[in-house]
This record gives sequence, C-alpha cells and structure tokens, in this order.
Amino acid sequence: MLQTLSYVLKKANKNNYAVGAFNINNLEILQAVINAAELEQSPVIIQTSEGALNYAGMDELGTLVHLAAKKTKLPVVFHLDHGKNYDLVVKAIKSGYYTSVMFDGSSLPYKENIRLTKKIVNLAHKKNISVEAELGAIAGIEDFVSVKEKDAHLTNPEQAIEFVEKTGCDALAIAIGTSHGAYKYKSASKLDFKRLQQIKESVKLPIVLHGASGIPANIKKICIKYGCDIKKAKGVSDANIKKAVKLGVNKINIDSDLRLAFDAGVRKFLKENPSEIDPRKILNPAKELITKVVRQKMQMLGCSNKG
Ligand code: G3H
Ligand code: 13P
Ligand code: ZN
Repeated sequence: MLQTLSYVLKKANKNNYAVGAFNINNLEILQAVINAAELEQSPVIIQTSEGALNYAGMDELGTLVHLAAKKTKLPVVFHLDHGKNYDLVVKAIKSGYYTSVMFDGSSLPYKENIRLTKKIVNLAHKKNISVEAELGAIAGIEDFVSVKEKDAHLTNPEQAIEFVEKTGCDALAIAIGTSHGAYKYKSASKLDFKRLQQIKESVKLPIVLHGASGIPANIKKICIKYGCDIKKAKGVSDANIKKAVKLGVNKINIDSDLRLAFDAGVRKFLKENPSEIDPRKILNPAKELITKVVRQKMQMLGCSNKG
C-alpha cells in the first residue's frame, strides 16, 4: 500500500535502519524492485527522476506504481527524486501520484534554497505529501583538494540545524562525500562520518544518502565479461554504507547498481542466445539480477522484514 516517506522513515529512524530508495524508469525495473520487497518483506521507496519522467511519462510511471502498490500490503513510497525544477515539483504534488517529493535546491544560494523548500513544504504538507530537501553539494570527496574546499561543498552541520528549522522538511539529503554514477572513487571509498555524526546529533531528522551505489563486484564482472567497458567503476563499500546507517542515515538512494544489473542481464542473455528476439525473454534475466541486487541491499540496510 502507498505510504508517505515520513511514515516509513520515522519508523526507520526510531529503530536505526535504512530503507532503500530505488530509481525506476520502466515496468521491468519496477517489477524487479517490488518483487525484491515482497521476497524480503521490506518497505520500499520507488523514485523517479526528471529524466525518468521525460523517458516514460509521469502518468505512465505513476499509474504503474499505484497499481503495484495496490497489490501489496507492504509500505510503498512513491517519491520524486531530485526535483530541481520548482514547477515540476509542484506538478508532481498536484498530480495525485506522489506520496513524497524531493525539492533539490542544493545548487541555489542558501537563502533561496530555504525559501523555495519552505514553499514546497507548505504545498506538499497540505496534501499529506512528505518533502526531502538537500543541503550541500553531492560531489566526490576525492575532488576536494583542501579542507576549506571540502567545507565549502559538504553539508555544514550548523547550517543544517537552521535549514531544517526554517524549512520544516521531513528528511534531509546531505553531502558527506558520495557522488552520483558508477565512478565515485579512484581508491578506497571514503565518507565524512564525523560530519554525518554531527549533523544527525543536531537535526535528529531522517537523513538521506544519495550516490550510495556499491558497484557490486559480481555484477561488474558479468558486465565486463560480456563487453561493457566499466573497468574503473567504483562505488561505496558495504562496510561504509552499514556504518552510515548505524550513524543515522535512514534513506539510501540506489540507481547505478540497478543500471549495472540490467546491463549485465541483457548483455549476457544476448551473447548466449544470439537468435532470440523476444523482448520478454531478453529482459527476464535483467529483472532477476535487479531483484537479486535489491534484496542484497535490503538485507544490508536492515529493512528486510520491516514491512
Ligand atoms: O540521481 C540521479 C539518478 O541516478 C537519476 O539519474 O537523471 O539519469 O535518471 P537520471
Ligand atoms: P547512484 O548513482 O550511486 O546509484 O545514486 C543514485 C541517486 O542518488 C539517486 O538520487
Ligand atoms: Zn541522487
């Protein structure tokens, strides 16, 4: 059943686990994620980016997610990911599909981020829709050459207190050294745990970690074996994600790992079955691999059997 982000994350925050938020772009990815949630009896956050909406349509994806949510007793949050465009976030709120939206004002001047986030919070809360907001720039920790530069980009704990108070957001996405995509680190994965701890201690709110894909070695191996050029891809280690959850992260955003699993499944199947042309057969192994990856994430985050 559909639930708000606030409902799902309040429980996660109280019981110190995280819920996986998975990006979907089509029916197959949605089916694979929902199947994993059923198998793990886990709450799940299904999210769509602006790119997903341009690709498949808000009505189309919204209808699919509502149908899937209706068929399960598990809590399903339908969330707009990275709403950078104010009008798109308003459209999502008014659409009746979303139970949660992210207003991503992280690239705006601080005061403007507060002003627009607050406006979105007022609109969304009237409709019982939750709001995730973002403070700090999600960028690879290896990109910062000095402490000063790092402090200028990563989330400032002092500012976070004021930001949460002034905006009234339900969850806060923070920058502690993760980045989007498959190429996050050149050497060992690294997060600013001290910063996370300071933020959590002061804001107490559910904390969101973007750019949390791990680039699982077994999936990467299949991709490479069947021709995908991703040798240098590197994600956040499971140990680092577990530590982040322990320190108070309650929502973990995963997209790249699902892309990788999809790619591995399709490439392997086509290579081994060169005469197959039925899309249903071609996409089935991809769905199975995504389900496998999502199940592993749920187990790791501690949200299995919390549905
Ligand atoms: O945070 C970004 C997500 O991975 C969505 O990516 O904008 O290519 O759909 P996208
Ligand atoms: P990844 O690229 O690490 O999967 O991050 C996805 C994300 O943050 C979606 O908002
Ligand atoms: Zn993100």
